[in-house]
Amino acid sequence: VDLKTSIAMKILITAGPTREYLDDVRFLSNASSGRMGYAIAQAAIDAGHEVVLVSGPVALPVPAGCELVSVEGTRDMYDACLARFAECDGVIAAAAVCDYGPRERTSGKRIKTGQSITIELVEMPDIIAELGRQKGPRWSVGFALEAQDPHRRAVEKLHKKNCDAIVLNRTTAIGADDNSIELIDSTDTTVAKWTGRKIDIAHRLIAWIAATLAD
Ligand code: C5P
Repeated sequence: VDLKTSIAMKILITAGPTREYLDDVRFLSNASSGRMGYAIAQAAIDAGHEVVLVSGPVALPVPAGCELVSVEGTRDMYDACLARFAECDGVIAAAAVCDYGPRERTSGKRIKTGQSITIELVEMPDIIAELGRQKGPRWSVGFALEAQDPHRRAVEKLHKKNCDAIVLNRTTAIGADDNSIELIDSTDTTVAKWTGRKIDIAHRLIAWIAATLAD
């Protein structure tokens, strides 16, 4: 099949986890492998689009032809995305961003005291929500990984983050090659349910965006 479409877009894609450091060696993060975001980047390249891939630390090869912006912390991902969004037609936020990070980062390595310690966590900025506020004519697609009451929670996030669509997946997606997703548009309608390899789902998602959200 010919994956190329007539309108080439420039797409900002976030992928992988972020890290929030307690000191210079310890961090809070999550089990995201980055596979779904990297599959989307590959699929976008396959379809003839330009890609700016803003990625947290992952152990994956970078799809040939996309521009990689490597970040570690949530605020670095936020800054990179805000700096690059204006030149793009839309954003797909597949990153598993830390919700909270330590209020302070200790320099060096915290010393073990023999006592329990308390670390204050502060909420991290919501990247896709901020891009949603700034997007103007651009489009934005978010992800939601939900265990409980998934459809309702995904719809809530879609509106809270001002997305044009949200991809709902389940916790079984973490680290796997396969995924099972539901694509929900801004009218709260489930427009697709796809199960299969992440790369195949990614090709379908890119095709749907090109047909539905691109002008
Ligand atoms: O973590 P949450 O379920 O809210 O994530 C939903 C969507 O929001 C995902 O697309 C994720 O990449 C994005 N997100 C973000 N910045 C955050 C938290 C989530 O861009 N701080």
